[in-house]
Amino acid sequence: MDAKVAKPGEGIRLSDLWNDPYPIYAKLRREVPVAWVPAANRYLVTRHEDIVALERQPEIFSADEENSLMKRVMGHTLLRKDGPSHKRERVACEPALRPATVKNHWMPEFRRIVDELIDGFITDGEADLFDRFAAPCAALSLARMLGLTNVDQKDLREWSQAMMDGTGNYADDPEVWRRAEAASSGVDAALDEVIPYLSRNPDQSLVSCMLHADDPLSREEIAANVKVIIGGGLNEPRDAIATGAYALLSNPRQRAAVEADFALWRLVFEETIRWVAPIGMYPRQTTREVELGGTLLPKGARIGVVLASGNRDETVFENPDVFDIHRAKKPHVAFGGGPHFCLGAWAARVQVGEVALPALFGRLKNLRLADEPVRFGGWVFRGPLNLPCRWDA
Ligand code: HEM
Repeated sequence: MDAKVAKPGEGIRLSDLWNDPYPIYAKLRREVPVAWVPAANRYLVTRHEDIVALERQPEIFSADEENSLMKRVMGHTLLRKDGPSHKRERVACEPALRPATVKNHWMPEFRRIVDELIDGFITDGEADLFDRFAAPCAALSLARMLGLTNVDQKDLREWSQAMMDGTGNYADDPEVWRRAEAASSGVDAALDEVIPYLSRNPDQSLVSCMLHADDPLSREEIAANVKVIIGGGLNEPRDAIATGAYALLSNPRQRAAVEADFALWRLVFEETIRWVAPIGMYPRQTTREVELGGTLLPKGARIGVVLASGNRDETVFENPDVFDIHRAKKPHVAFGGGPHFCLGAWAARVQVGEVALPALFGRLKNLRLADEPVRFGGWVFRGPLNLPCRWDA
């Protein structure tokens, strides 16, 4: 076997990945597509074909990573389970997020949320649409889908951030643990309020589906899954809304094409999450020695599946760094692959691509970027950090 020694990863710093990971990934794809990166304490898998190959072998590339900080913060969620125990919990959640449920039940709710948010600032003529629109829109929509209608969107945003910071707290910062534990307790208290009601009054929400599944989930399993969905299901739609709006505001010709043909919004959504994948990287761990992309991985190797890089792989996507809704249709990997393929994919498509973005561009006349620059950040999760805009009030 032609196993390479993975040296080029050694100079990579997490701060550089956070600022702009794409040139670093392009180099890794060219030179060592499966590279040991000491700063990340994992092998980064950066080519599209290796990501797809890895997701076809979940028995070798396990989602149940040892010493996972996610388990410490949230409990053992479906995202960190394999095989039948994962399947059982996924099946329980599925009815809440089926395409028909999303279209008939959640889409009208998304519309109401989006309209109320825009009503709240339309006469202002300017706002940071990250804070005023993308983040509350994602939080309020997620609260509805979960069945946590008793939670304030600001609390949900704080809990989401605090738990995600906890899952990345490799520095063992006590303040980060304190916030994560407070967030976790907040979710538990909110669940204690809604579970008795939803036990008696089933609805389409995720908590209700988990309670009333053929093989119902325990209180502990429900709590862990609600926490992972709050941690992981809020910032992706938020970042997709903000990235998509920024991309169109920076590309007037593509914007004009979309405004003339509603059917193109679907392409805007898919190209947005290809261009800047909201989940840039997620973990896996090998269950045995295996070769991937020319690198020999030992048993127990910690892997980073770099979706952000697979989505910019030049062997699949022509001019990958360019946002282009008219590009040839190729499968991106922004929703992952294999058994853990995003369960919220339909909800995200409708929420972001069919409701939030069209409403923003349809209702805010002459919407444009303000003078202050839009900044992007992150590599595990990536998106705009602000979106200062103006429009004619
Ligand atoms: C643009 C929006 C979104 C993106 C890009 C996205 C991306 C992803 C990715 C990459 C995974 C796989 C992670 C892994 O294998 O470790 C995933 C899993 C998941 N996502 Fe999403 N997501 C989005 C929105 C949502 C929403 C809105 C929800 C819930 C309403 C959701 C619920 C889930 C769940 C429950 C899983 C775990 C599935 C399983 O383990 O079987 N996602 N998502």
